[in-house]
Amino acid sequence: MAATDLERFSSAEPEPRSLSLGGHVGFDSLPDQLVSKSVTQGFSFNILCVGETGIGKSTLMNTLFNTTFETEEASHHEECVRLRPQTYDLQESNVQLKLTIVDAVGFGDQINKDESYRPIVDYIDAQFENYLQEELKIRRSLFDYHDTRIHVCLYFITPTGHSLKSLDLVTMKKLDSKVNIIPIIAKADTISKSELHKFKIKIMGELVSNGVQIYQFPTDDEAVAEINAVMNAHLPFAVVGSTEEVKVGNKLVRARQYPWGVVQVENENHCDFVKLREMLIRVNMEDLREQTHSRHYELYRRCKLEEMGFQDSDGDSQPFSLQETYEAKRKEFLSELQRKEEEMRQMFVNKVKETELELKEKERELHEKFEHLKRLHQEEKRKVEEKRRELEEETNAFNRRKAAVEALQSQALHATSQQPLRKDKDKKKASGWSSIYSVTIP
Ligand code: GTP
Ligand code: MG
Repeated sequence: MAATDLERFSSAEPEPRSLSLGGHVGFDSLPDQLVSKSVTQGFSFNILCVGETGIGKSTLMNTLFNTTFETEEASHHEECVRLRPQTYDLQESNVQLKLTIVDAVGFGDQINKDESYRPIVDYIDAQFENYLQEELKIRRSLFDYHDTRIHVCLYFITPTGHSLKSLDLVTMKKLDSKVNIIPIIAKADTISKSELHKFKIKIMGELVSNGVQIYQFPTDDEAVAEINAVMNAHLPFAVVGSTEEVKVGNKLVRARQYPWGVVQVENENHCDFVKLREMLIRVNMEDLREQTHSRHYELYRRCKLEEMGFQDSDGDSQPFSLQETYEAKRKEFLSELQRKEEEMRQMFVNKVKETELELKEKERELHEKFEHLKRLHQEEKRKVEEKRRELEEETNAFNRRKAAVEALQSQALHATSQQPLRKDKDKKKASGWSSIYSVTIP
């Protein structure tokens, strides 16, 4: 279709006319149909609890939902913050709620807290990414998809009565564009009434001056505008949690009992627990879900798609074309791939050259070593040869001497063996001499 046709179609759209109905048609049941569908489908709600170890996160969750969730006490020795999600199926009347409570385990326990916020941010982003991936699938099933995006972050502030810690400010600042933050002062029974009042003002002042955006209960819906506006002024809620039941009058109430008295969790003069439950669960749960989708997820999605090269329109205000963007991105990707390939090939060639040089150097060294050893060997061989010759000469000389001695000995022996014969002859000749001389031959 030509561009001019498109323009004609879009600009020629007629204004809808208002008509009155002659009688009851029935589409006024649409809201009921919607409610019925939602009830059948069930709801999911995901709460992130961020606060120091032992600040009362699990107790508050148990108190809020009036049940006992699985809790595992965290140690103070975690090397870094880790997120622990636990999902439960809850039912009230005929409404099913898939509730996920995510605990930031080990928060505030590290000596270096610079990166404490990172695992939390990464976890929130990972849930957005999962949802985006599901949305981008060809065969997507968002209807029965278990949405794990965080709908609210309850930020537990330590009741010091002083001011917010830098860790609180940094963490809330990093989270405020990703999640609805409701700050709460935990263990509010440990701080006096006047101190609490000042503490609340101080906290709000610090949040504003540091540009931390916390969740504001919506005031655009008339039905809840008034209560929400009042409650916004009570932030941050100062809460007390307890699963213990204490008898007050003739009623059993959830409270914390002290030697000097009882702090009732649901007594609005004692703490803001009821306000929190009212705002979080009874009035604004749907708004929190809605804000998560329309504000926080939308922001994540937009940034992610822009990062991937998608735009609603280019510089000349041409309408966005998925096909063209895809093609452009593909080309960009291919040329990047080619560049990387070339880079890797070059790196490989360089590496081979380097190794070749190293090997050559090693070969030369080995050769030198071999030559040196060869020279040493020849020298040794020459010395041994000389020694052998000397030895041979000595042996020859010895043999010659030995032969001479043997010759002398044999001569002497011969001479000795001749003597008796001569003696016999001589005896006869000079028999008279033997009585005068005696000869001894050795
Ligand atoms: P980890 O999960 O181990 O980080 O702890 P947590 O933040 O879940 O705290 P948990 O609810 O286990 O409570 C820790 C201790 O604080 C327990 O002894 C609770 O009884 C106590 N506690 C919880 N809430 C309150 C409160 O509102 N006031 C006071 N005074 N103590 C509380
Ligand atoms: Mg806990």
